[in-house]
Amino acid sequence: MSASGVRVKNLFPSNGSQPVEYRRIYVWELPVRAYHWINALALVALCITGYLIGAPVRAFYAAEAYQQYWFGWVRFIHFLAAFVYVFNFLARLYWGFVGNKYAKWTSFIPLKSAQRKEIVDVIKADVLETKLHGPISTGHNALAGLIYFFTFLAFVFQTITGFALYSSMSSSWLPRMFTWVVPLMGGEFGVRFWHHLFLWFFVSFVIVHVYLAFYHDYIEGRGTISSIVGGWKFDRVKNDK
Ligand code: HEM
Ligand code: HEM
Repeated sequence: MSASGVRVKNLFPSNGSQPVEYRRIYVWELPVRAYHWINALALVALCITGYLIGAPVRAFYAAEAYQQYWFGWVRFIHFLAAFVYVFNFLARLYWGFVGNKYAKWTSFIPLKSAQRKEIVDVIKADVLETKLHGPISTGHNALAGLIYFFTFLAFVFQTITGFALYSSMSSSWLPRMFTWVVPLMGGEFGVRFWHHLFLWFFVSFVIVHVYLAFYHDYIEGRGTISSIVGGWKFDRVKNDK
């Protein structure tokens, strides 16, 4: 039997005909969903425009005046998306303290032994495929939560290096707060290097994340993808963690 077949058998009755009781649970509140999609749009815009800013061919296509005008738009969109992304992220941090239990900051950091056990379980079941799943979390599973936590740290790093680059081009107070970063990272070249390198972290994250969203939606059959649109997930009655 295929690996996915094993898991389907684990999540659903073995002969597929016994009725299973499902409950509808409101998991992702509106601020979490709004954060998710604003963040996704802003990040895609930042990755595309950031790539164009750093692309080696830039020197050629920015030669003519009308092309420089086009390039000005690329930079403008990068800066606009950067502000949207940063303030959206700050709103999500706030919601990590006041939101429901699925949105709480504690769901991202495995401080409890149950969360650490779940990380091992998810690695064995989903990554190594050496055992069947234990109970499945209603919100993020503990491994997904931890990976989002690392992604949030990468958000912070990218924000600091981005504003450090911006500090030499702007006189407003927010970017000017980050001027100290430039000498710390060995000058503007160092900042640019790290800011560029992290682009590839985000590109990799998005590819794996979207793949996993489809994977869990298919394997678990409880509306994973629609939950980040409408907020609701379906859960077997005896599996609300
Ligand atoms: C640039 C694109 C994307 C980024 C940066 C991104 C990022 C994230 C982050 C940070 C979270 C955690 C949300 C929180 O608790 O605040 C999350 C959750 C989620 N995302 Fe995305 N996302 C992207 C695109 C997508 C797409 C296209 C889909 C659907 C096909 C998707 C489906 C989900 C789902 C279902 C969850 C909840 C998952 C869970 O239970 O762990 N995401 N995403
Ligand atoms: C995840 C989010 C982000 C990604 C993926 C990203 C990506 C990039 C990339 C790849 C470059 C080109 C670097 C190079 O020269 O090789 C760049 C440039 C830049 N980014 Fe970002 N960036 C992000 C967020 C930010 C933020 C939050 C700011 C804050 C204002 C920012 C400000 C800048 C500035 C000022 C430049 C230099 C523009 C220029 O030289 O014309 N970025 N970004």
